[in-house]
Amino acid sequence: MTLNDGREVTIRAATENDAFGVLMLIDSVARERLYLLNTEAYWTVEAQREWIRAVHRNGGTMLVAETTKGDLVAWADLARPHAALTRHTATLGTGVHVEWREVGLGRALLQEIANEARSLGIEKLELHVRSTNSRAVHLYGSLGWTHEGVSARSYKQDGAYEDRVQMGLWIGPT
Ligand SMILES: CC(C)(COP(=O)(O)OP(=O)(O)OC[C@H]1O[C@@H](n2cnc3c(N)ncnc32)[C@H](O)[C@@H]1OP(=O)(O)O)[C@@H](O)C(=O)NCCC(=O)NCCS
Repeated sequence: MTLNDGREVTIRAATENDAFGVLMLIDSVARERLYLLNTEAYWTVEAQREWIRAVHRNGGTMLVAETTKGDLVAWADLARPHAALTRHTATLGTGVHVEWREVGLGRALLQEIANEARSLGIEKLELHVRSTNSRAVHLYGSLGWTHEGVSARSYKQDGAYEDRVQMGLWIGPT
């Protein structure tokens, strides 16, 4: 696809061969210390490989965005929970590399993964987001996600508390 600034990326399914690139990407976003729940990606490439395998094996999916040079600059994953009463849901994780933000990539990725979720029989998407992450909250809201709750002071970083905002998107039969 062509981004709003004219750059090209390909959005495709992640495979276990993407483990190193995904790990580096998550690590770079985590180290910004503003958006994710970890401040670094502390796990190994092998653990990342197993995570990608497990997402698919459990009926979820994972997408990556790849540049024309072969670098991974965004990911979105949908993890299916195991508990019987939650099997119709999936939990979203996503991020775009700092140099590729605000040119429509996050929006495209989320639209594509919601379409894939439907074809996998998922009926509801869920996520948690830091209350300070106004860009992410805006994007989710503009794609139809609704606020479902707030857990006060569920996050703490460098001594400061933040709320956890829960959002959901119904994609099943209405
Ligand atoms: C959140 C994120 C995935 C969005 O992806 P993106 O490619 O930057 O988003 P897009 O360019 O598709 O859209 C960004 C939207 O946010 C808006 N926006 C930008 N900064 C904003 C801000 N501070 N407050 C509110 N909205 C903002 C843009 O105007 C745009 O909305 P519009 O299309 O209605 O004009 C990406 O910025 C990111 O990875 N951020 C860091 C990691 C992260 O937050 N992950 C999600 C954790 S829950």
